[in-house]
Amino acid sequence: MDDLIAVTGASGQVGRRLATRLAAEGAHQRLIVRSADRAPQLPGTDTEIALSPGYGDPESMRAAFSGAQTVFLVSGREDVNRVSEHRAAVDAAVDAGVQRIVYLSFMGAAPDATFTFARDHWATEEHIRASGLHFTFLRDCLYHQAIAQFVGEDDVIRGPAGDGLVAAVAHDDVADVATVALLAEDHRLFDGATLDVTGPTAYSLAEAAQVLSRVTGRTIRYEPETLEQAYASREVYGAARWEVDGWVSSYAAIASGELSTPSPTVKRLAARPAQSFAEWLDLNPDSWSRLRR
Ligand SMILES: NC(=O)c1ccc[n+]([C@@H]2O[C@H](COP(=O)([O-])OP(=O)(O)OC[C@H]3O[C@@H](n4cnc5c(N)ncnc54)[C@H](OP(=O)(O)O)[C@@H]3O)[C@@H](O)[C@H]2O)c1
Repeated sequence: MDDLIAVTGASGQVGRRLATRLAAEGAHQRLIVRSADRAPQLPGTDTEIALSPGYGDPESMRAAFSGAQTVFLVSGREDVNRVSEHRAAVDAAVDAGVQRIVYLSFMGAAPDATFTFARDHWATEEHIRASGLHFTFLRDCLYHQAIAQFVGEDDVIRGPAGDGLVAAVAHDDVADVATVALLAEDHRLFDGATLDVTGPTAYSLAEAAQVLSRVTGRTIRYEPETLEQAYASREVYGAARWEVDGWVSSYAAIASGELSTPSPTVKRLAARPAQSFAEWLDLNPDSWSRLRR
């Protein structure tokens, strides 16, 4: 409990929730943020702010990790250089004398994962395995929030997800699982573990549209696209190919079934059921307020 835990991504959705939970447990933590004004304010806790321009800057990451026994490593913003940034962060942790990394990975991480961004997670996991550090990989599914964000301006979810199912998860559940893994009295219980972190059931985008319609009072529907249609409909954004590949393949991964198997991780570690999509909508009205009639 006295070990120093460095929490990266503390200004983000998962990191902020995790830091709040660790503070409530009285854990010794250091928040790693890129901008002090986005760090959560957690009065009454032994919280330090370590500024860093990001994972790609070894010197500031080494300084940020210095003295920490454990690092919670959030995957960085999607970028063409994301894997090398992650590798640099892991190397900085090793150089700083860190002993253990709990890495927030992604479900189905593999070199040939349908979701192209999940390939970054696999490459990062491989680098962590080779680093000699103790590690735990938390592979979360798509967030419920990401599913709500799939709804277009015209109230249609469009993407090449076919009739596939997604076991999407709430940020709160990911943070609860991470808290348990980080604070385990005996971290050997989690060493070398790769845990999928999902919601309680898997749902289709057609079902998501039904739930959203009921909750928002709008008529939201799902219209499957072919891969070709998906690329064509996203051309308007003028984004780089790697980014569009990531967007389109997040739907294709649903179609493939790679995100469809619910795991017992939340129930087992948090000792309560994971939030369903409907429960998440109910508990997080601000997260989907743009869809309110
Ligand atoms: N499962 C899903 O559906 C899903 C969806 C979107 C993203 N993700 C991945 O899951 C991660 C965590 O999710 P989230 O919802 O907590 O994301 P989030 O709210 O966007 O937070 C991401 C956090 O990571 C920090 N960060 C990003 N790039 C960084 C870098 N290169 N170096 C250092 N810090 C960096 C951000 O710092 P700043 O505040 O300074 O930017 C922020 O604190 C995301 O970063 C992304 O890789 C997953």
